[in-house]
Amino acid sequence: MEVKRRGVVYSPSEIAKKVIEDSFVDLRRDRYPKIIDFSCGEGIFLELATEFLTEKYYKDKEDYPFISKNAGREEIRRDILKSSIYGMDISPKAVDKTISSLARSEDEKICLRDKIIEGDALLNRHLLFDLSENKGFDYVLGNPPYVGHKNVDSAYREKLKGYGDVYYDKGDLSFCFLKLGIDLLAKDGRLAFIISRAVVDSINGVRIRDYVQKESHIEKIIDFDTKKVFEGISVLSVILFLSKAKEVKKTQVVKDGEVFYTNIFPIKNKWILRKEEEIGLIKKIEQVSDYKLSDVVDFHQGIITGLDKIFVVSQDDIEKHKIEEELIFPWVKNSQIKAFEVEEPSQFLIYSNLIEDEKDYPNAVKYISKERSRLEKRRECRLGSRKWYELQWGRDLSLFQLEKIVFPYKAEKNRFAIDKSGLLFSADVYFMTLKDKNFTLENIVKILNSELYNKYYRLFAKKGVNDQYDYYPNSLQGVYVPSAKKFNYRAEDFEKELNKFFYMVS
Ligand SMILES: C[S@@+](CC[C@H](N)C(=O)[O-])C[C@H]1O[C@@H](n2cnc3c(N)ncnc32)[C@H](O)[C@@H]1O
Repeated sequence: MEVKRRGVVYSPSEIAKKVIEDSFVDLRRDRYPKIIDFSCGEGIFLELATEFLTEKYYKDKEDYPFISKNAGREEIRRDILKSSIYGMDISPKAVDKTISSLARSEDEKICLRDKIIEGDALLNRHLLFDLSENKGFDYVLGNPPYVGHKNVDSAYREKLKGYGDVYYDKGDLSFCFLKLGIDLLAKDGRLAFIISRAVVDSINGVRIRDYVQKESHIEKIIDFDTKKVFEGISVLSVILFLSKAKEVKKTQVVKDGEVFYTNIFPIKNKWILRKEEEIGLIKKIEQVSDYKLSDVVDFHQGIITGLDKIFVVSQDDIEKHKIEEELIFPWVKNSQIKAFEVEEPSQFLIYSNLIEDEKDYPNAVKYISKERSRLEKRRECRLGSRKWYELQWGRDLSLFQLEKIVFPYKAEKNRFAIDKSGLLFSADVYFMTLKDKNFTLENIVKILNSELYNKYYRLFAKKGVNDQYDYYPNSLQGVYVPSAKKFNYRAEDFEKELNKFFYMVS
């Protein structure tokens, strides 16, 4: 519960160390900096910052005139705790632990009690500003909690109204922490956060990305891409280094052990952490193509039965229970959908929404009634909007019977296939139906399954764990395609022609 609701996952020390080292690159020479972690947990960032600064100031005293020449490590450390270190956490236990691990004497403990305090950072902005004596902090560091919208109750959401400019719909709570962090920076302050990758590419992250770019400069992003930073937690993260004042021409991106510089600006409303030449491919395809998929096709989602175990049946089940044929439709799993083809279905769906009178389909009703009590517990049945034997979300059957392009909602590669046989499937499969007759399903499938479009899609698609990309309509809608008037879809060497068309070398 703590993990989900409060995002309590402490940072691995190697990563926290990297955050500290990369943040303190040009320490000010006139005074101790003010540093805060306002979701400090057990204080790993504050502890590592203290140790880093102690060592730095002790070794390079002459560069920092505010350090007395005779000061020993202990004295410097004490001054750092007194002048630099600030924190907050919602958990009193975490605050106690942080103070105990930092303080080496009772006096230090007493001093830290006023500077590392218990509280909800998002609801105590004024307290945090007070701590900085209303000047803002030189460094805001941390690993603020990631809490998805499902784990934030409505009463708490209501209290976060002040963050409404960046936090809405299915946004992550970490967006509020990022806004708060930026707001708390002194005019030449720096922020470094290990933060959910949602900030980079989620649909509801549009406004926080806007805010970050308006209010600060992105100096560096370390992109862990699909590698998990936190053991056992499936959240993907990046480390974001922002500077309030320093002009940044190009952001440094560290990814897959490579370092490159790029202009971070949103393409398709996301930050695309790619080399400029790769981003060039997106721009080229968009310049040359004349349609977006959303202009050409309608998108639809598969069926939610509410209990596959009873509605999805085998040929043997159909025969054994003499289930009425008119209700039976072929059913495929998303793993059966490959590029260009769908494997022969081996299962069937009882499309029970066709039953108007139970008496007309006694065998199907009898079979489904084996799970009647479970079916009746489904939300829609309890609310009275479905009969007990109906599918939970049966959709519009006539749409499935149109010629369509089917595709799994998550996959390692583009897997689009045409179906003309009225296949049904679960909600982990989506489908497209044609709305612009200037296109054909064949041409769309050809281009979407091409190597070039695999490359193009990966440049902006959301990548989840296990190297799988999301193929949700909101992402596919923005894929550009050329019309047959512009591009020869019948080209013999399709791949080569496509590369040529977009001015690429084959
Ligand atoms: C992901 S942990 C990180 C802790 C620490 N910064 C680290 O890296 O180890 C998030 C911390 O945020 C705290 N937290 C959750 N909601 C908070 C809130 N609204 N205000 C302040 N702290 C909060 C949790 O108690 C937890 O200690």
